Amino acid sequence: QEEVSTFVLTDDEVKTFLPVRTLQGHKGTHGKGVLVAGSTGMTGAAILAGRSALRSGIGLLQIVTPRSIASQMDLGITEATIWSVEGENTLGNQAWPVISEKCRTAQALAIGPGLGQNTDFIPVLEEVLRTIEFPVLLDADALNLVAQGPEILGWRQGRGSLIMTPHPGEMARLCDCSVQEIENNRLEIAVTKAVEWGVVLVLKGAVTVIASPDGRAFLNPTGNPGLGTGGTGDVLTGSILAWLAQGVPPLEAACLGVYLHGKAADELARDFGWSGFTATEVADQLVKARRSLE
Ligand code: APR
Ligand code: MG
Repeated sequence: QEEVSTFVLTDDEVKTFLPVRTLQGHKGTHGKGVLVAGSTGMTGAAILAGRSALRSGIGLLQIVTPRSIASQMDLGITEATIWSVEGENTLGNQAWPVISEKCRTAQALAIGPGLGQNTDFIPVLEEVLRTIEFPVLLDADALNLVAQGPEILGWRQGRGSLIMTPHPGEMARLCDCSVQEIENNRLEIAVTKAVEWGVVLVLKGAVTVIASPDGRAFLNPTGNPGLGTGGTGDVLTGSILAWLAQGVPPLEAACLGVYLHGKAADELARDFGWSGFTATEVADQLVKARRSLE
């Protein structure tokens, strides 16, 4: 059995991943990202991911969401543009023309927070994997839909990079095994699947593993059980989207996102301990977490 080379992330390493800002920088150079998220009853997931992308410095954020929640999204997130898709309460195949149009001028795409699991969206995922040439991140229900036909990951081979951010439950569905099997063997499974699927695989949990398609793995030392509350995963997705849009390479963007997300929670824990802070507060704390590295 081959040995996995692992690295524990540190402040000193992660700060070298931060994008450099110039005096002349403007919203056009600070990256445009597309977030595909939300469904009736899960507006908050989309708002959290969007808020987090903004707190991670994205220049422009475009959110694609179902018509049923578009006006709530508009009010819930002042700084983003909202692009609504006609149809049901959950995004389906009518989302593709909107996504593809918004992606024409973007540098990164994230799909999944609060998406819902309309199987009509699976062909959209296939189109995304086949045609989008810049980094794509899949989270939450986008992963649950991929789990229904993991062979669609094959469409990505040789195209832009793919980042996946499963929690152990989502990973178990993707691997068609039990959560216990994932938890007993987190590092090895993350690396094996990152190599097999050719993706950057972020296996979340108490020590998040970031596995690279070349077989290396990074372990995240930041974070605490206070993160065990609804919406913190959506915050992670928004942050990684922002780093990708700002031109940080996929592996580094995933490491930066995971590390700062945990660091933000550790800063909140100084005041609150390991419970009672919210995902919104984690998103808002991301700025100070980043500042502490500079
Ligand atoms: N220590 C450090 N980090 C932790 C800990 C811990 N003890 N517990 C949780 N975390 C972190 C994880 O590493 C991850 O970054 O909190 C985040 C939780 O993310 P998710 O499990 O994706 O949670 P979230 O998305 O908020 O859950 C809401 O979305 O993905 C779906 O199925 C999921 O229904 C759920 C919903
Ligand atoms: Mg989640």
